[in-house]
Amino acid sequence: MDQRLIIVSNRLPYKVYIDDQGKLKAERSAGGLASALGPLHDQDASLWVGWNDHSAIPLLPNHKRHDAKTIHEANDLLRSHRCIPIELTTREAKGYYDGFSNSTIWPLFHDFPHFAHFEEDTWKTYVAVNRHFCDAIADIYQPGDIIWIQDYHLMLLPDMLRCLFPSATIGFFLHIPFPDYEEFRKLPWRSEILSGLLGADLIGFHTYDYVRHFLTSCHRVLGREDHFGSFLINDRTSQADVFPLGIDYQRFARQVRSTSAKKMIRTFRREHSSLKGKVMLSVERLDYSKGIPDRLLAFEAFLKAYPEWIEKVTLVLITVPSRENVTSYHALKRSIDELVGRINGELSTVDWQPIDYYYRSIPFESLCTIYRASDVMLVTPLRDGMNLVSKEYLAAHDGTSGVLILSEMAGSVHELSDALIVNPFDQHAIVEAIHKALTMPKDEQIRRNETMQKRLKRYTSDKWAHQFLHALSQVKESQQHLGTARIDAAKQTSIAQAFRNAHRKVLLLDYDGTLMPFSKDPRSVVPDKKLITLLKRLSEQNDTTVVILSGRDKQTLGTWLGDLSIDMVAEHGVWFWDKIKHVWILGEPMDASWKKRIRPIVEDYVDRTPGSSMEEKDYSLVWHYRTCIRDLADRRVCELKNDLSSVVDDLGLTIMDGNKVIEIKPASIEKGAAAHRWFRDKSYDFILVAGDDVTDESMFHAAPDNALTIKVGNHATYAHLSVENVEHMRKLLSSLVNDTTPSN
Ligand code: UDP
Ligand code: G6P
Repeated sequence: MDQRLIIVSNRLPYKVYIDDQGKLKAERSAGGLASALGPLHDQDASLWVGWNDHSAIPLLPNHKRHDAKTIHEANDLLRSHRCIPIELTTREAKGYYDGFSNSTIWPLFHDFPHFAHFEEDTWKTYVAVNRHFCDAIADIYQPGDIIWIQDYHLMLLPDMLRCLFPSATIGFFLHIPFPDYEEFRKLPWRSEILSGLLGADLIGFHTYDYVRHFLTSCHRVLGREDHFGSFLINDRTSQADVFPLGIDYQRFARQVRSTSAKKMIRTFRREHSSLKGKVMLSVERLDYSKGIPDRLLAFEAFLKAYPEWIEKVTLVLITVPSRENVTSYHALKRSIDELVGRINGELSTVDWQPIDYYYRSIPFESLCTIYRASDVMLVTPLRDGMNLVSKEYLAAHDGTSGVLILSEMAGSVHELSDALIVNPFDQHAIVEAIHKALTMPKDEQIRRNETMQKRLKRYTSDKWAHQFLHALSQVKESQQHLGTARIDAAKQTSIAQAFRNAHRKVLLLDYDGTLMPFSKDPRSVVPDKKLITLLKRLSEQNDTTVVILSGRDKQTLGTWLGDLSIDMVAEHGVWFWDKIKHVWILGEPMDASWKKRIRPIVEDYVDRTPGSSMEEKDYSLVWHYRTCIRDLADRRVCELKNDLSSVVDDLGLTIMDGNKVIEIKPASIEKGAAAHRWFRDKSYDFILVAGDDVTDESMFHAAPDNALTIKVGNHATYAHLSVENVEHMRKLLSSLVNDTTPSN
């Protein structure tokens, strides 16, 4: 990679510690992100910007807190590792990290709204700290740099940077879930968060569900429509996509192969299991999202349901201290302590206790040992963005037996479907999964693991980082082609010339707003005589195919244009006109039963919004509001989208925001997909695509590189060229048939 990479995250990838001689030293942290981005950070010019959290630096002997000299030294040390430390005051750290990041966003995004605090004060601090990060980056930014921002602590940063550096390359990755709209809407600062994120060129998520939730929220909160995950924002795009984070598989697999590791594994088993007993493992940060109490209760229920396992299985429970200043975390710690005490108290025997409980962080070598020494790993988070420990367990069991029990609420479940998958809220399911795991034949364990290990070996953390950066560069490249050039007289002549020189030509044209201006009454937009003549002449040119792609119903199109020798597509791609047989053909089998659910909703809006009407097409319903009072219509549009959005996803529908219309139609239907019939025919050497509406953007997007894509009007578009209005569009088309056809 030639460009300089600036990685930005809340935490820096180095831990500062004090060595035996009492000197400050820095070592790379063990966390998933630090190891995923480590190799990129190690490249010559890369930098990493993050908070220097003093509380993570151990105190020097006889010190109650760090003095200025120590902090200064720690910062210098970090800088020598190409880190840019951000200093925060205690008040800032409290409001930004303990407060807004971990007491608002974390619980809300992990589906724990009852833990979420909405406080103006912590929000303001979050804004201010994001601004500090922005200032620090502005000091080092050079044109051409790639800025890659990580996680929920810095969701405002992309747009802050965008305002300073409009053409910068900015990526963002969210490592936690993005909640569904019903949760997200509760956030008082939801618009600011979304606008902040959309400042990035590429926004990455671990799973497609999170992408979908994000897109829905952008639509419903900001009224922004995406096209295949891409938003048009002024003169650039912002793309949301899936990149599941992997692990450095070989690092774990290699570690457990060493002789010292083998010895440690034997010692661990001796200490934690009776001779024929089994070891189950549970290891994670102490966090309510991880479902630790539910897991303990399930383990207790298992021992009661299958008492033959008493003294034959031990649960090694490792919880890593985390966010101890946040109230919900120390309350959880207390309840886990009590639960372990009670279960051990009730079920222990003279020679055995069911749970070996540790509250501490584990160094990498020991963690690998523990993974490998455990027969079963219980990973049952109630919600987890990705979950790396499940992947690491499998890597440490490279080619060997070992059973993973995995929650269906973990992001990693999409890649680890051969694990024993459980609903973490279903105690009975966990009990049965534990039993199945403990009694599973070894060859089945190996077989199941093999498929998952293969995937983990291939899709490593390194690959994740490179794929993200590659996608980011592609988004950037596609933005170069976004600016539209107005078609002037000279361009019009060159297009006409190209048309005449071409051997096979196809013109794909939208109807309303492209060939005919809008009117208050859509039924009155009957093609005038001049348009009919123009279309007829175009279709009579040698080797020329004219296609009208419209959202209109087939009856109207058939009546208005059926006598011409042209192709037609009705209802955005539902119906295709056979110009020889004069019949409409369904593009693919369709279902209209959903209309029963949606029709009453739209009818209610017609009743409550004077001047509006409902149009029913074969496979879509349209609410028209062109003649309504503007303020009322604006309000109703938001309300209607709101009412519809809770049902459309389930029914496989999409809401399309057209020109003064809201159309509800099957999600798979769009003009871009319909246009493929012509786009895939490589013998066309002249392709012209024209449209005015958002519904036409999918055609522009899908058009081959050599197509002339023309937007009618002034809105942001994927088209490369534009004309001012219908009149100009008709002039351009007339010029193709040797300039003699008068325009409108
Ligand atoms: N980990 C660690 N020390 C420990 C226990 C775990 O560094 O004592 C690492 C573990 O190897 C994994 C990461 O912490 O890479 C936890 O990531 P995960 O996605 O499982 O959960 P998160 O803590 O990010 O919610
Ligand atoms: C999750 C977050 C990370 C965070 C990590 C540890 O994985 O997505 O951004 O660094 O937890 O949490 P901490 O608050 O200790 O940084």
